[in-house]
Amino acid sequence: MRVTIAEIREMKQRSEKIPMLTAYDYTTAKTVDEAGVPLILVGDSLGMVMLGYESTIPVTMEEMLHHTRAVVRGVRRALIIGDMPFMTYHISVSDALHNAARFIQEGGAQAVKLEGGQIVAEKVRRFVECGIPVMGHIGLTPQSIHQLGGFKVQGKTEEAAEGLFKDACVLEEAGAFAIVLECVPAPLSKLITQRVSIPTIGIGAGPDCDGQVQVISDILGLYSDFVPKHAKQYVKLADEIRAAVANYMAEVKSASFPTAKESYAMDESLLRQLTADS
Ligand code: KIV
Repeated sequence: MRVTIAEIREMKQRSEKIPMLTAYDYTTAKTVDEAGVPLILVGDSLGMVMLGYESTIPVTMEEMLHHTRAVVRGVRRALIIGDMPFMTYHISVSDALHNAARFIQEGGAQAVKLEGGQIVAEKVRRFVECGIPVMGHIGLTPQSIHQLGGFKVQGKTEEAAEGLFKDACVLEEAGAFAIVLECVPAPLSKLITQRVSIPTIGIGAGPDCDGQVQVISDILGLYSDFVPKHAKQYVKLADEIRAAVANYMAEVKSASFPTAKESYAMDESLLRQLTADS
């Protein structure tokens, strides 16, 4: 059975922490789902970790839908959230609604995520009215990286902290089912988490959020172009891959791979005939 929005809300109510991970392809999503992660985000971080862009800004709807469909094919249980890319929810409510609906209809996701607080509230309200569950995202919002002047911790002044409180409350009022808090000082995340009734999902936002989200390539140690302070590598897969590839190359060069075990036999009499004919 698919995880529901109601179950995610209930996890907050009974103080059960909510793990969330990104995934961008069929195989990884299937593995993450089999491990029991209840929320899978097809994040626009795929622009950096899958497509090699310098930021999330160039990511298009078509790229997001392509990866969302791959994830959906691999996942049975987790609730899948499609991340709306830059400028696909900024122009007008109807344009934003059209793009959000594409994630659900064409992508097969169960919810969408968008960045911003008060500024996107009207859109969140409209999506929810139309039956599209929405996850908010405040604090460091990577699509506004040029405006923010870099990947920096947010909410450090009184005005900025109050702005984040307001954003969280407005998103809750607009009907968001959860809010990502990215790069927010831990004590401020704690206060926001206590203030709102919907779950907060932190990334670089301390231990007191209701849940945590990480980029899968970060926790697997696969992406080294930019390793944020808040990312923990549970395994160093890039090192493992390099070692496996070096091993493979050495075995190919020394002709010790493939062996009979990795080869296919053929009918002996046919072989004799072919040998005689040649
Ligand atoms: O795109 C992404 O992966 C995200 C998470 C970091 C929350 O937005």
